[in-house]
Amino acid sequence: MLDSETYLKVNGGKSLQGNIEISGSKNSILALIPTMCLGEGEGVLTNAPEISDVEAMKGILEEIGIQLICENKTVRITGDIVYNELSKQYVSKIRASNLFLGVLLARFGKAIVPLSGGDKIGNRPIDIHLHVFNKFGIKTNVEDGFVKCEATQFPYKGQTIFLRFPSVGATENAMLVASAAESESIIYNAAMEPEIVDMAILLNSMGANITGAGTSVIHIQPLKQKLMRANHEVIPDRLEAGTFLLMLAITNGRGMIKHVIPEHIMSVISILMDSGVDIKLEEHNIIVDATNCKFDPIQVDALPFPGFPTDLQPFASVYAVKCNGKSTIKDTIHTERFHHLYEMNKMGMVSTNISPMVMIMGKQKLTGTSVIGSDIRMAVSLVMAALIAEGESNIYGLSHIYRGYDNFVNKLIQLGADISIAYKDTIEPIKELKTVL
Ligand code: EPU
Repeated sequence: MLDSETYLKVNGGKSLQGNIEISGSKNSILALIPTMCLGEGEGVLTNAPEISDVEAMKGILEEIGIQLICENKTVRITGDIVYNELSKQYVSKIRASNLFLGVLLARFGKAIVPLSGGDKIGNRPIDIHLHVFNKFGIKTNVEDGFVKCEATQFPYKGQTIFLRFPSVGATENAMLVASAAESESIIYNAAMEPEIVDMAILLNSMGANITGAGTSVIHIQPLKQKLMRANHEVIPDRLEAGTFLLMLAITNGRGMIKHVIPEHIMSVISILMDSGVDIKLEEHNIIVDATNCKFDPIQVDALPFPGFPTDLQPFASVYAVKCNGKSTIKDTIHTERFHHLYEMNKMGMVSTNISPMVMIMGKQKLTGTSVIGSDIRMAVSLVMAALIAEGESNIYGLSHIYRGYDNFVNKLIQLGADISIAYKDTIEPIKELKTVL
């Protein structure tokens, strides 16, 4: 089925109500699967989200000789790496495929991996990753769309590395490469995202000795024995939780978001509370009541964790439409991530975008129409806009949603949204597509 032929039909104006269970984290599992490749034996990831990015990972693993089986929200990984080169077929689909540079370098001291793909959200250089590799004495060369790396000495010695920016992917690659070093490595200005902590926990269960993950300084000791794959539960997806939190809020809804770690999205929770949403926190649940929300304007600065996540920044723009006054949304991480504004213009939204900042006057009326999402968060933020728009909207770009959101449409139906998957001109009975590869 072509992506241009399937779309979501949303009738706006309904208040979302009810409980919803959050799935495992996309960005975590996309780092945990490459991490598993460094070990031997069988590895099991539970609470695995059923998303097409995991299917793309499966394709990459098969190319290097590793088996991945996904069943009932569990991913099993077995086999040994037998190749140190990857083709463009699957690598070009996801950004996290650049972690195979770290995996192959740690195993063989040599890697040839195509430049990775992923969301089209502006320029996404890999200079920090290459800087990390160079520090370990690894020569790097980007040629004809491939990144070619080779260690001058293998195994290499541990290094002290300072990242010019706390890049999530570069921190992950640094941990992978450092885990194979002969002596201690230290990463300064490391990313502090929960996905980094999740990866370090898995590496430690496999036999590594990593301390400091979740802070800006990470220490990685040399291995005492071979890494052995382990069982690990993927953390809940903080971005999915933030998405539904914002959707409940904007529709004056009420309900409970279950199976989350509230500290992972405190930035979103506090902005919504300041705006007038009633939020109560339990250990693993967030209880939301926006039925009497004042919708005070919001000031959002997308920053590395624990700042407001750049991935939820487009949703903040939609929320701002409902506020009583001028909101500002700034993204200094992905400074060009404002494509959703063009599509929302078609729904009647007016905004002033002086990148990396957008100003949005509140109390705007959106009208349903046809819009196209060209990355995961953009597509879902358009669904959020459609939920408050008057009339019917058609949202194209469904395959992007399936890349990162598990059972998205059914979860919205569970909350009472008037949403259905449509194919050409016929609305199909609701059945969630699991992969659109
Ligand atoms: N950057 C560089 N050079 C580098 C690496 C990054 O300049 O070598 C810049 C990027 O261009 C960007 C910023 O640093 O402006 C942050 O990039 P980072 O490396 O932290 O991001 P990433 O590892 O490529 C992950 C998530 C993204 C999320 C970012 C930021 C995964 C698979 N992806 O990407 O998630 O936006 O961190 O938090 O973990 C999404 O889920 O929708 C998504 C795009």
